[in-house]
Amino acid sequence: MEAEPERWKRAAAERALALVGDGMLLGLGTGSTAHHFITGLRDLTARGFHLRGLATSLASAELAREAGVKMLPVEAPLSRSLDLAVDGADEIAPDLSLVKGRGGAMFREKLVALNTERFVVIADASKLVDRLGRGVVPVEVAPFLWPQTARRLEALGASWLLRGGTEQPYLTDNGNLILDLSFAGGLKQPEQTAALLKSVPGVIEHGLFCGLTQAAIVAGPGGLQILGSLA
Ligand code: 5RP
Repeated sequence: MEAEPERWKRAAAERALALVGDGMLLGLGTGSTAHHFITGLRDLTARGFHLRGLATSLASAELAREAGVKMLPVEAPLSRSLDLAVDGADEIAPDLSLVKGRGGAMFREKLVALNTERFVVIADASKLVDRLGRGVVPVEVAPFLWPQTARRLEALGASWLLRGGTEQPYLTDNGNLILDLSFAGGLKQPEQTAALLKSVPGVIEHGLFCGLTQAAIVAGPGGLQILGSLA
């Protein structure tokens, strides 16, 4: 039998698959939970569903192609909003604000979340938190003069680690670096922190998602929990 939390991630993804209709234009997230959702689309395309998608990472795009989803070129302008975007999260607060990006894809993930009719998060129950910022808050930064950007972020009260280390830094699909920020005690005012992070020159995007999530499907030992509205 599949081990937890993998079983819970799959259960949340399966519930989200029930939201997918024939002809939909989908936003496809990144990470191990989104992986279950994307591979699950294979059953739908095999049943004759015509699905098109915009992926938040090269890895998810590849997976979706294998599942029979026609991928939109990332540079092409969107003529309309996506119908539904489904993605994982690292932390989910009671008001459905999120920390994302521990998988490194938050720049594209945020653009997808901003350009969809419905943004639905799928997760196992370990992702529920009382306050965001209990773990790291990832920030994508341009490689040019990144230590100066890191120092400016430090001035906001964060300590940071360059993901991958200086010898072999992790590079995002956009060719940028990630600084994983830690805030002692978590974030009291995530929206304020989000605005401050975004105001730092050199910051491309950060992993705080405030006011974007319509619903979270969370699976755990007690079964499935729907936070927000799937309607
Ligand atoms: C990637 C993300 C992921 O959605 C997040 O890290 C959750 O991943 P997983 O489903 O593997 O726990 O934000 O940038």
